[in-house]
Amino acid sequence: MIGQLAVLILVLLVLVWVLYSTVIGNSLGGPYVGTPEKLAEKILAEARLKPGEEFWDLGAGDGRLVKMARKKYQVEGVGVEINPLLVIWGRLQGVKMIRKSFWEVPLFNADVVYLYLWPGVVEKIAEKLEKVGPGPRLVISRRFEIRNWRRKLVKTIPDGKYEVYFYKN
Ligand SMILES: C[S@@+](CC[C@H](N)C(=O)[O-])C[C@H]1O[C@@H](n2cnc3c(N)ncnc32)[C@H](O)[C@@H]1O
Repeated sequence: MIGQLAVLILVLLVLVWVLYSTVIGNSLGGPYVGTPEKLAEKILAEARLKPGEEFWDLGAGDGRLVKMARKKYQVEGVGVEINPLLVIWGRLQGVKMIRKSFWEVPLFNADVVYLYLWPGVVEKIAEKLEKVGPGPRLVISRRFEIRNWRRKLVKTIPDGKYEVYFYKN
């Protein structure tokens, strides 16, 4: 009986994982692919985070950048993530995670925002951020540039054959 229950739970977890990582997450913003640790370190160093600032990762995955930012730079870190399993995993590691779609979350308090999402989605988030008071001081997009924000681009750093884009808002 306990064995069957364990198998059922396992099957359910696998189904939730497949559903969110391939269908829901992918169609709403991007599939789950984590930013490698070395690159995450470089990105956070280039962001010049100051203690007490709010660092938000929209589509935070397992919350690795938020965790690193809090530990290294004493910022307030928030991850917004749609996949409940990644949210649980992040929370187990002490990361503040909001289990929602980033389209439903007000972004008034963010000072620095990190995005690793599909190109069309980063464009739409940029539009959303423009409507938020003064907005974040810096928006970072891995791999995909925000074409409407070319005038705000302050620097890029290499990411293999791609780049990471830093926009001053
Ligand atoms: C490419 S991964 C990036 C993970 C993390 N930011 C990193 O760089 O390590 C994109 C993440 O966004 C999440 N996602 C996609 N659409 C979302 C939405 N509308 N709201 C919240 N999270 C979303 C996916 O579930 C996935 O975990």
